[in-house]
Amino acid sequence: MIKKCLFPVAGYGTRFLPATKSMPKEMLPVVNKPLVQYGVEEAIEANMTTCAMVTGRGKRIITDHFDISYELEHQISGSGKEASLGSIRSVLEKGVFTSVRQREMRGLGHAVLTGEPLIGNEPFGVLLSDDLCINDGPGVLSQMAELYAEHKCSIVAIQEVPREETHKYGVIKGERIAEGVYRVQDMVEKPDPEDAPSNFAIIGRYILTPDIFDILRATAPGANGEIQITDALQAQAREGRVLAYQFKGRRFDCGSVPGFVEATNYVYDNYYTRN
Ligand code: UTP
Repeated sequence: MIKKCLFPVAGYGTRFLPATKSMPKEMLPVVNKPLVQYGVEEAIEANMTTCAMVTGRGKRIITDHFDISYELEHQISGSGKEASLGSIRSVLEKGVFTSVRQREMRGLGHAVLTGEPLIGNEPFGVLLSDDLCINDGPGVLSQMAELYAEHKCSIVAIQEVPREETHKYGVIKGERIAEGVYRVQDMVEKPDPEDAPSNFAIIGRYILTPDIFDILRATAPGANGEIQITDALQAQAREGRVLAYQFKGRRFDCGSVPGFVEATNYVYDNYYTRN
């Protein structure tokens, strides 16, 4: 069973400036819950109850969110307002929260490597909370954990995207081995549509085997000085040790303003009134 999930939350979130000048983008609320809480709920639902945050400067309020707010709780104790804390209290009951700071923003691969002391030598999930995934059945990480139990190798979540959008994603070339499951042969980071090997884009959910840390340590930074997770995954893929999984559910790119607005409307229309 996979017990830990890494949350790289150190990025600057420049696409949301000025909102993210002093507030982390992971704390932007979709309706009444911060993005990162949706992610933590998904991880806990997949039994990944240790949530390991790779934070950065100015991100302290993320770790504060996953702690008790003593004064507030004391103040509203016994009132009708207490019910609004239900979802976060449930998360705090079930989850354990650890964190480490990424001192320099050197890319997602570097963020994952920074999280190594929190993970150790075991397989783990990685969840990018700006990709909000919503479905009524088991969450995306749960679906991936089930696949991991069968194959015991790294897994990336993929989604079909319009050809003209391949330049925004890592894109895979794979051989289909089962319904919605591909063995990855190659991965290209942000290809132009004409160079993309498919229109299957990698989204922000991964299950990684711990040998990824040694590979990341040996991975040279790319042109922009960032260490890319896809470069490290390539090394595993060359040995046939990466699967791509076309998950069930909807995904919203909440790292972009249009995706965030779309998610907000969707959650408000479909879920908020039920709570
Ligand atoms: P993004 O590419 O979305 O970058 O990172 P960003 O800085 O968060 O946002 P923009 O593009 O400036 O608007 C993908 C994920 O990887 C994390 C981010 O927090 C985000 O969840 N990340 C990225 C890190 O934790 N550290 C890094 O060095 C880079």
